[in-house]
Amino acid sequence: MREDTARSRIVLRNTLREQASPYDLRGDAHAGLSSTPKTLPSKYFYDARGSHLFEMITRLPEYYLTRAETEILERESGRIVEAFRPRVLVEFGSGAARKTRILLDAMLERGLLEGYGPVDVSAEASRNAADALTRDYPHIRVEGVIGDFERPRDLPFAGRPRLMAFLGSTIGNLEPTHATSFLTSIREEMTAADGFLVGFDLVKDIDVLERAYNDEAGVTAKFNLNVLRVLNRELGASFDLDAFRHRAVWNAVDSRIEMHLVSVVEQFVRIPSIGLDISFAAGETIRTELSHKYTRESAGGLLQASGLGLESWCTDRSDRFALALARARSV
Ligand code: AVJ
Repeated sequence: MREDTARSRIVLRNTLREQASPYDLRGDAHAGLSSTPKTLPSKYFYDARGSHLFEMITRLPEYYLTRAETEILERESGRIVEAFRPRVLVEFGSGAARKTRILLDAMLERGLLEGYGPVDVSAEASRNAADALTRDYPHIRVEGVIGDFERPRDLPFAGRPRLMAFLGSTIGNLEPTHATSFLTSIREEMTAADGFLVGFDLVKDIDVLERAYNDEAGVTAKFNLNVLRVLNRELGASFDLDAFRHRAVWNAVDSRIEMHLVSVVEQFVRIPSIGLDISFAAGETIRTELSHKYTRESAGGLLQASGLGLESWCTDRSDRFALALARARSV
């Protein structure tokens, strides 16, 4: 019964009920759609369909981020692991992807690998990651936390030397003040033995940035519009997906790509389940995602402000993406 043996190495702790739920679609939709300008949190993109569309995005020719980060990991994972000799990989907001395995393999090759600690709001993602990894890494223990990775508390494998990883430039979704408070709360959980690895997408040519979010095949447009499907299904809203258009633009002042859904016409949308009647002027938008782009300086400043000291900074060959390795500064 190999399956059972693998399963016995998995512990998943669900903290969603202990916290004020971070997945409050009703509250978030109500707040975001009744404010000016209208907004929706990007975390609601990722239902099953949205997660699949994001997978497709990572393979688009225009979307260089995933390939660039993978290139860095393939080249640097050995050095990253040597720098801290971690026994455990704790990963925020991800699961079982190719990038995770590059780091696990580097730990395994050095005889270090003991455990993997996914911290993710999706119980399903954590369960799938746990199953796949315990199958493929015969001695690994998985201690997952199902909860809001933006509120890291009681992180797994306390007391073991850990590499904490926040990959994919998901940090870019957070406004800088929010990013600082997130990193600070990770920093507070770290011991002197722990390392922190974070991916930053870098400021670059505006055309390259805008093309990454406006692909020819229209997958990013589908991904963006998917959030309206989620509202229709989950809240019984009546969004007409043909009455909204995808727009992604560079905001130079705030150094970020913004994704919007533009109302093509003047229209009213009802969401009776949350008592909301929303009116849109023609051309009015819902801002659905922020994707901040960093420089070495701005990323260093963010880490510094969060009590983290930069140990190393690695970019891909074309300087599009960076992985920062940091440790907790003693205070
Ligand atoms: C997964 C948040 C890093 O901001 O580039 C991809 C999501 N949005 N295309 C990003 C995304 C549109 C992505 N992150």
